[in-house]
Amino acid sequence: MNSSRRKFMQRALCTAALACVPRIALAREEGIIHLTAGSSEHSLYPGQAAPSSLWTYNGTTPGPEIRVRKGERVRIRLTNNLPEPTSIHWHGIRIDNAMDGVAGLTQEAVPPGDSFDYDFVVPDSGTYWYHAHNRSWNQVARGLYGPLIVEETDQVFDRDHDLTLVMTDWRLGQDGALDLASFGSLMDWSHGGRVGNWLTMNGQSLPTITLRAGEAYRLRLICAANARVFELDPSRFGAKVLAYDGQALPEPVTLDYSPFLLGPAQRADLLVVPEADFALEEVSGREPFPFAFFKVEAGNGTQPVAPKLAGNAIPEPDLAQATTVRLDMTGGAMGGFNEIVYQGRRLQGEEFQTTKQVWAFNGIANLAEKPLFSAKRGETIVIETVNETAWVHAMHTHGHHFRVIERSGATIDDGKPWRDTFLIGPQQKTKIAFVADNPGKWLYHCHMLEHAAAGMNTWFEVS
Ligand code: C2O
Ligand code: CU
Repeated sequence: MNSSRRKFMQRALCTAALACVPRIALAREEGIIHLTAGSSEHSLYPGQAAPSSLWTYNGTTPGPEIRVRKGERVRIRLTNNLPEPTSIHWHGIRIDNAMDGVAGLTQEAVPPGDSFDYDFVVPDSGTYWYHAHNRSWNQVARGLYGPLIVEETDQVFDRDHDLTLVMTDWRLGQDGALDLASFGSLMDWSHGGRVGNWLTMNGQSLPTITLRAGEAYRLRLICAANARVFELDPSRFGAKVLAYDGQALPEPVTLDYSPFLLGPAQRADLLVVPEADFALEEVSGREPFPFAFFKVEAGNGTQPVAPKLAGNAIPEPDLAQATTVRLDMTGGAMGGFNEIVYQGRRLQGEEFQTTKQVWAFNGIANLAEKPLFSAKRGETIVIETVNETAWVHAMHTHGHHFRVIERSGATIDDGKPWRDTFLIGPQQKTKIAFVADNPGKWLYHCHMLEHAAAGMNTWFEVS
């Protein structure tokens, strides 16, 4: 962090009013939640910075928190006031395929001026999110996402102790406004994606959130960044992990290592019993960069019981009967992309620039005609993903949670939590296992949204 930014931040800290996490009351008309995608102006950087012209749901970024109960039916009407077609994906929900929101695979994108009704049941409790799934590299980077919280049947934390924290990064220009000129840069697409230079929490710069000492809080962290892998260190404030990607761990796990990675689309629910003020810090730079502050006031003295969350009933993979599928990730800068097939043709020369297809899964960029695999409903699938690129990726399965069972040849014995998105480093190999029990056509893609747009997209079918 440069020193002017640090000075700036100290000033902001002293003068900031104690900001609570905004909770937008979400009106339901006859049981239907309305989400309107449109443009609105927001300031992303404190002080006199120029306002950014963002794309938002109901005028805020993140969009309104949708909070429902496990097993509930959810009906949402998306109205599109954007200048381009859009759709919404309900990330991490084991959803009915027709409602998965993938433009071009499970539905047509909703044209400007039109609307679309989503109607689904949420089978699992936990921390999820929703985001645009048409030209996501563009729409998510402009602000089109929000939290989707599914409460447990028996709620463990009351609303005052259950905080949703959506973190993201933005690429701002010199004037402090969203840098529009760099959208779609081939440099980003072929390297690490559109990584920003400023962080916000719940759409706010350097917010301060007030907690009470000695009381147990659930902090639901959601990484909504296009491409940034956040490096955090929650062990500094004694946090335990309650859940990953919406799925509760059998017991809260103490964090005693650093750094703690939260990549695009990943979530982590932390259990915190604060004693003194602390900050959430991004620690990947030379100095930690605090981007959200927690002010701890005197509590009422009652010591909480360490809460434990009830898990969801996700079918266990049967590894003895599994079908193994291999996926080779290739391409990108420093990876040599001369063997990429796109829409049935091998790309050459200039075509990498004109098509912007620079990554491939098993040699094919952006959705082969045939699925990566077809599974019979109930079959256990192991996907062995081999990252032959020079970059880290965040791989996401639609419609299914999986367990990471092996990483670079080593069997993982940390309890193998359920996830819907995993990080894979350069030259790493990762095996995930899941029961393909949800019929339909599902994406398996990199959640670094520029990588997905530039080729890292495939699909599988469950029948
Ligand atoms: Cu968060 Cu294809 O999705
Ligand atoms: Cu990637």
